[in-house]
Amino acid sequence: MSEAKNSALSEEMILPKPDDFHVHFRQGESLGAYVRSSAQWFGRALVMPNTLPPVVDAGSLDAYRKKITACLPESLDFIPLMSFKLLAGMDAKTVETCAAAGAVAGKYYPAGATTNAADGPSNPGAVSEALSAMESAGVVLSIHGEDPDAPSLEREAAFLPALEKILDRWPRLRIVLEHLSTREAVDFVAKGPERLAATITAHHLLFTIDDMMGAGLNPHLFCKPPIKSAADRRALRNAAFSGSPKFFFGSDSAPHARAAKESARAPGGVYSSPTAIPALLGLFESEGALEALKPFVASSGARFYRLPAPQGRLRLLREPWTVPGEIDGIVPMCAGSELAWRLA
Ligand code: NCD
Ligand code: ZN
Repeated sequence: MSEAKNSALSEEMILPKPDDFHVHFRQGESLGAYVRSSAQWFGRALVMPNTLPPVVDAGSLDAYRKKITACLPESLDFIPLMSFKLLAGMDAKTVETCAAAGAVAGKYYPAGATTNAADGPSNPGAVSEALSAMESAGVVLSIHGEDPDAPSLEREAAFLPALEKILDRWPRLRIVLEHLSTREAVDFVAKGPERLAATITAHHLLFTIDDMMGAGLNPHLFCKPPIKSAADRRALRNAAFSGSPKFFFGSDSAPHARAAKESARAPGGVYSSPTAIPALLGLFESEGALEALKPFVASSGARFYRLPAPQGRLRLLREPWTVPGEIDGIVPMCAGSELAWRLA
């Protein structure tokens, strides 16, 4: 980390402005707060399309991008990277017009796999025309890799054979397996071709299933895919700390109202935009992996997506702070805990 004073005693850390390759900004009145929170920490973010209504064509993509940029004050340089949601039967023309409108990814949500995914395809064959068009246009396939028919904790591993088939059938398609949560998925991506990469979240690197439900149930750490065992977390950390260009950061920051999260049927999603970067800095530092932080949050993803290197800098200070119980009306990741680093 060339610009950073990275000795254990330094009081300041300067990073290239990180990229977040997986974020949920939602639609509606809270959109602005989520966008501004993200833009304080990130120079670009890949915006997920599972909004209500969803982003499914060039018109909805363009309208959503305009809403996002309209929320930004001039002082914040932030580029939303747009994606669209793959729907069964989507034709090549729709993909081509989305690509022309600036889409960098099309998102595959297996039907019923997560929040607002009831309308997803039930198998890759249902979106074959769209996947071929994405392959030709150089649009990345972003995958929520869980098989909803498998038991909850086995859904990610159970999806891997389907991913193998997609890799075989579309030999030039570039693919990102999102929010890895298991050893099996880490191994699969590591051994796969160069055109297969993966995002890893902060919460899957920081926590285990016991933080979520080992003592009292903490619905604010419940997400899809669920956070798993210490052995899975070890594999994820090894991948993130390896400096491999195949593994990069995507927060999967997914705000849900406190009342919904604390209800009898909590939706999945961890709101991590406001705390992910200082928490990751603390983790990489304490694990002796600071050298890997810059590629993980600020260059490997951009390279995979064929984007220019990040512009701008992010300055953090070693000044412990206690994360508030609510930010933007949502209980954030690490609420109530102390983080060693804060935004300068
Ligand atoms: C996300 C959401 O709430 O939109 N939830 C989650 O648990 N991660 C959707 C997703 O990425 O699965
Ligand atoms: Zn997500």
